[in-house]
Amino acid sequence: MIVKNLSVHNFRNHLTRDLEFTPGINLITGANASGKTNIVEAIYYLSLARSFRGVEDEDIINRKSEYAQIDSTVYEGSIKRNIRILITKKGRSVLVNGKKVSKLSDLAKCVNVLLFEPKDVMLFRGSPKERRNFLDINLSKQFPIYLEYISRYEKVLRQRNEILKSQKVDEKLLESTTELLVKYAGPIINYRAMFVKDINDILIKITHALTGARDKIEIAYRPFVANTSDYQKEALEAFNRSLENDLKHKATSIGIHREDISVSLNGREIGTYGSQGENRLVALALKLSPYFLINDQDKKPVVVLDDVMSELDKTHREQLIKFLRKFEQVFITDTKLEIDGATRIELQKTKEVF
Ligand SMILES: Nc1ncnc2c1ncn2[C@@H]1O[C@H](COP(=O)(O)OP(=O)(O)O)[C@@H](O)[C@H]1O
Ligand SMILES: [Mg+2]
Repeated sequence: MIVKNLSVHNFRNHLTRDLEFTPGINLITGANASGKTNIVEAIYYLSLARSFRGVEDEDIINRKSEYAQIDSTVYEGSIKRNIRILITKKGRSVLVNGKKVSKLSDLAKCVNVLLFEPKDVMLFRGSPKERRNFLDINLSKQFPIYLEYISRYEKVLRQRNEILKSQKVDEKLLESTTELLVKYAGPIINYRAMFVKDINDILIKITHALTGARDKIEIAYRPFVANTSDYQKEALEAFNRSLENDLKHKATSIGIHREDISVSLNGREIGTYGSQGENRLVALALKLSPYFLINDQDKKPVVVLDDVMSELDKTHREQLIKFLRKFEQVFITDTKLEIDGATRIELQKTKEVF
């Protein structure tokens, strides 16, 4: 995929900004607070109709405005799509080629963005939720049915927790809700296991390309119950074993909403034993790996690296840039970096911006 251009209106500090991009590396430079991250936030917004900064839409709208707008032309091979997103304080609307799109998965089909941001260095040190999000976002983009299973599972999970919280627990209802949870968890476990298996080989190759070292790197996923022929029986037994605990804490303590993945470097857990530099490079490798799961060249995701370069030493920076030249389209933000052959977009702090 190629994001050909981007026009933003009242998007954070950008009142009006029209930018043209190219295939290959696009380098967005400018002083601190010139709005570099805001630009890549708009590009990311095109793919999931939400920010990666975990904020409300209201924060995105320029403080002095009532709405924000993003317009972009995106190519999937020779298929051209004009995307318009209007964000108001009451909600947002998405138009693709002038037609309203209401399903998120339909937008995700038009633009796929892989993002690496500074806080991702904490990916293996932070909470399991971040790592589950990584699995869930990538699997949902690749398989819309996965998102469907997750939504159903979460709905039933909320119901089960409500039952656990009630004054007098309805045991029959609890039992049937547990059965439903087990049913929806089954395919989710399969998808997660498959994804992790596929990612493993890719992760080794990318880490090698980024570090030059032949490290042994492994990503592991241990589901709460393996999805084998006895899955149904074993999962129900596992829920039974944790029933007392669940009733006591009035919450569901096991299931796919509590799972995690772990990554080891030369046999040791990277989050616990790895250096800051190792954490950064392996997290970057992991976040880039879904790129290689997509075989259709026209559907390859756009890669965004926000503020990552300045944290790397010269050797690793050069290795990373060399590697990034393989990608269809990459956006890199940095205050001062120079890259041979890259399209350079300098954000000036103009008066109009404030
Ligand atoms: N809703 C908003 N309205 C106006 N300005 C905003 C809004 N949200 C953020 N900003 C401004 O955007 C600037 C930061 O932009 P950012 O993209 O993070 O800069 P950087 O170039 O350092 O990545 C700050 O000056 C901040 O005050
Ligand atoms: Mg920034």
